[in-house]
Amino acid sequence: MRATAIAALFLSISSYASQPQLEQTKASLTSSKVALGQALFSDQNLSLNRTMSCATCHNPDHGFIDNRYNVTDGAVSVGQDGHSLGDRNAPTVTYAKFTPAFYERNGFFFGGQFFDGRAADLVEQAKGPFLDGSEMQMPNAKAVVERVMENDEYVQAFKNIYGDKILNDSNKAFTAVADAIAQFEKSDSISPFDSKFDKGLLNEQERRGLKLFKGKAMCIKCHAVQSSRPLFTNFGYRNIGVPANTKVRQLNGKGIDNGLFKNPSVTDVRKKGKFRISGLRNIAVTAPYMHNGVFKELKTVVHFYNTRDVEGAINPETNMPWRAPEVTTEIITGNMGDLGLSDAEEDDIVAFLRTLTDSKYSHLD
Ligand code: HEC
Ligand code: HEC
Repeated sequence: MRATAIAALFLSISSYASQPQLEQTKASLTSSKVALGQALFSDQNLSLNRTMSCATCHNPDHGFIDNRYNVTDGAVSVGQDGHSLGDRNAPTVTYAKFTPAFYERNGFFFGGQFFDGRAADLVEQAKGPFLDGSEMQMPNAKAVVERVMENDEYVQAFKNIYGDKILNDSNKAFTAVADAIAQFEKSDSISPFDSKFDKGLLNEQERRGLKLFKGKAMCIKCHAVQSSRPLFTNFGYRNIGVPANTKVRQLNGKGIDNGLFKNPSVTDVRKKGKFRISGLRNIAVTAPYMHNGVFKELKTVVHFYNTRDVEGAINPETNMPWRAPEVTTEIITGNMGDLGLSDAEEDDIVAFLRTLTDSKYSHLD
């Protein structure tokens, strides 16, 4: 949406609404935040060289992932300077609003945004990329707010929504920027629950896949199917022994990715190498897979679960045995690694996973 369209929305908001109008005002306040957040999400002026926005790595037309071609085959993203490389695969923003805030229970961790949960929620998360040294590369919050203030329509919008003084304090203003973006990310249109799965349109093969997913393949032990609108994750953290992405390692020169242990509030070394269990909505249109983007095809992912521990098993994408993971601490065994699935059963599971695509992305699969 263009900024002019947003400005029109804000005019309808009055801060002194009478009681009967209050509900109506709340709703239009939210829709104003969504419109503002949507504009900010796609505004390249908010990166150092004005070349990159959130939408660059989370393309709303492509399942909110980074579908640009790059030297790592899209495993990790290139930053706004055109050469800095990140270290993790950009996940989808669809359904991210359902991830609970980061918490610990009996020594186990759950939820939080990012693969290591280090941002408690979407507001905190949205502050990260602006200042990240391999992403949008802005020097500080003040600089981001100054870019926002270059745009008169934004200035008016922020004052209308967050109060006249909001832009006087950079930190408060930066939080308001993140808040508007988070409101956009929370809008229902980004998490519509309108896939073939939601509509109950599974064909015979897809139904067989779902049965295997819940049964023989044991996927639901982690990718929980907990309600009529499942997110296919219990939000926990596991080390499933994902092969190291040695190509990315060579190119970005970064050290080992310790996963959950990189979260500043986690001090237990046994958490090294654990990553948040991914939700699987829109999975067919959000390749490549895993935190390091090491697998290109869903069939490879399923084959990995099926044969990781089988002597002589081959990764079909490299024609080599499964490469060792970067971190070997507490790798899950038992529920995975040698599932005894036939090739046809692997195909059934893939067919099921492909029913989890929102209708607006179905043409991409
Ligand atoms: C250069 C590419 C890039 C840009 C630009 C970028 N992101 Fe991301 N985003 C990523 C990567 C990579 C991750 C995963 C990082 C991690 O786990 O440490 C991520 C993670 C996220 C997540 C967490 C999703 C989850 O399930 O954990 C959200 C939400 C998100 N980004 C929103 C945004 C917003 C909002 C912006 C703009 C302010 C933005 N991103 C800009 C690459 C990018
Ligand atoms: C022991 C827990 C566990 C089990 C069992 C499990 N997964 Fe996963 N799954 C994970 C974790 C953790 C991740 C994230 C790993 C990472 O990013 O490195 C993941 C990631 C994935 C991804 C990639 C998501 C993305 O966006 O990149 C797919 C696809 C997937 N799992 C499918 C399955 C299927 C199909 C099964 C059953 C055959 C299964 N999983 C069984 C824990 C599990």
